[in-house]
Amino acid sequence: MVKFPYIWEIPCSSLQGSSIAEEDKLKHTLKLNGIYKRIWELAQPFLHTRKNDIHTAISTAFAFRLLEMEGGDEDIVIPAILLHDVGWKKVPENMQLKAFGPHATEPKWNRVHEVEGGKIAGEILASIDYPKDKTLEIQEIIEGHDSRKEAVSHNDMLVKDADKLWRYSQAAVGINGNRFDLTLDQSVERLRRKLDLWLLSESAKKIAHQEIQERMNELAEGNL
Ligand SMILES: [Fe+2]
Ligand SMILES: [Fe+2]
Repeated sequence: MVKFPYIWEIPCSSLQGSSIAEEDKLKHTLKLNGIYKRIWELAQPFLHTRKNDIHTAISTAFAFRLLEMEGGDEDIVIPAILLHDVGWKKVPENMQLKAFGPHATEPKWNRVHEVEGGKIAGEILASIDYPKDKTLEIQEIIEGHDSRKEAVSHNDMLVKDADKLWRYSQAAVGINGNRFDLTLDQSVERLRRKLDLWLLSESAKKIAHQEIQERMNELAEGNL
């Protein structure tokens, strides 16, 4: 689980009313300040689908950690990761599970979430007078964050890695295990097998190995 000062403030609505223990809910909260908090708030209406609020919070925490390890432009990477999945709101919920994951049959909807996400991000950032040149770079990252496998810039690489690192979190192992009908052993094995395919930077691979070890420990202790 990611552990550093950014993560303890904004509860994710996916967790409210759930059976997850109170102390575990704390692990899935994200603390943001200033302009990033404002962007998070404006993104919320678009993140109440596909558990994208919890996914975004955890990926944003990973993005801060990658920025510390790899360097990069925080004012590009953090807005991009906060807004990267807002486009899912434009994909009908009955199509979402067909659009991504190991059993995807309707991948064209995956492109829709990227393209619509870029547009919505542009509108949100314009509403807070975010610098236009930075907004254009953020939109370019969002429009290819999933379908484009190679990174076009260092900032793009960090957003791609932060997005994929979420899969290694404790929350994602539970959520994706249910979605894709995987046992816990199968989930952890899949994370290990895909690591070099999914992740680009050495820092992201290092974090993923640490997360896998934590999942293995939780599995051994019966806590996963
Ligand atoms: Fe996405
Ligand atoms: Fe994502």
